[in-house]
Amino acid sequence: MENWRFKYIFILSLVLGTLSLTYLNFCCKPEILDIPFVDPGPHHVAYPRNYKFIMDDTPTCKTTSPFLIVMVPVAPGNVAARDAIRRTWGNETLVLGQRVETLFILGLPGEADAEQTLEKLKQENQQHQDLIQSNFQDSYHNLTIKTMVMLEWLAARCSKASYVLKIDSDTILHLQNLVKLLLDPKTAKHNYMSGLVWWHSPVLRDKSNKFYVPEDVVPEPEFPPYPLGFAYVMSLDLPQKILEVSPHIKALFIEDAYLGMCLKRLGVSPTDPPESTMFLVDPVHPLSDCSLSKVIVAMTRSIQQMTSYWERSKKPTTKC
Ligand SMILES: *[C@@H]1O[C@H](CO)[C@@H](O)[C@H](O)[C@H]1NC(C)=O
Ligand SMILES: *[C@@H]1O[C@H](CO)[C@@H](O)[C@H](O)[C@H]1NC(C)=O
Repeated sequence: MENWRFKYIFILSLVLGTLSLTYLNFCCKPEILDIPFVDPGPHHVAYPRNYKFIMDDTPTCKTTSPFLIVMVPVAPGNVAARDAIRRTWGNETLVLGQRVETLFILGLPGEADAEQTLEKLKQENQQHQDLIQSNFQDSYHNLTIKTMVMLEWLAARCSKASYVLKIDSDTILHLQNLVKLLLDPKTAKHNYMSGLVWWHSPVLRDKSNKFYVPEDVVPEPEFPPYPLGFAYVMSLDLPQKILEVSPHIKALFIEDAYLGMCLKRLGVSPTDPPESTMFLVDPVHPLSDCSLSKVIVAMTRSIQQMTSYWERSKKPTTKC
């Protein structure tokens, strides 16, 4: 009798143990182990949606409620560009009465001295608390991943802010002109994306071009309209909406064109800025005081040029 009872308990615990192990195995293993990296080929990028943030302790949107977030994708090692931005437009936090916060988004350094770069980034972030780092390999070919993880971060942490500007680091930003545009009653508060919109961007079929895309990847001769990647602004309802449609569209390595494909799927059209003087991708330098007074974003050639434009834009002059 006693013996039978022990056997029963033994078998029962064996069964329960196996069941719970099996359950743990299926329910709780980190996703990252389940999806092996598959090279998607040269014209797509791997965006398996399981990247993790390894640094994101910024107080932005946690203890603050900004109107506008400025997101700067930057290479991990490019501390010079980050510091220049922190000294100039990145240091403007109250613009026309609206709170503005600038953050940098980056991936993992790929260089031989990656460990050292990671350590330096941690120290830099301790000082400024403005870095958001995800665990994908930071490279030019992975820019689409960078943009998508940026949208993930915004949708998860900052959906209460009104707008985000994504902007390259080698640019001059006139925040007052941007905030003025965003506060304009004519500017939409939802489904809004603007910048230098390319309405009829051809899909390049010349194999020697770095933006070459074969017909089996994008069969249409033109991409749907999209604002050029160096600077675009969107309302903060869009990150979540874009993330919802993106699984249906295989991630293309051309970041801005890919967003155009997502927008089209959403039935959202980008908006031209009210003036063509606002977003300048390849301006004639040096910019005059008059153009500096009208610009929102312009590409620059160097950190020095960006800094000097910013200083000039702060001086009251007879503009035009
Ligand atoms: C930002 O501006 C404040 C106030 O004008 C100034 O004290 C501070 O040194 C600036 N920060 C940087 C990094 O230049
Ligand atoms: C892009 O990122 C993934 C994930 O980190 C990595 O496996 C891949 O090698 C990267 N591609 C390039 C071209 O850097």
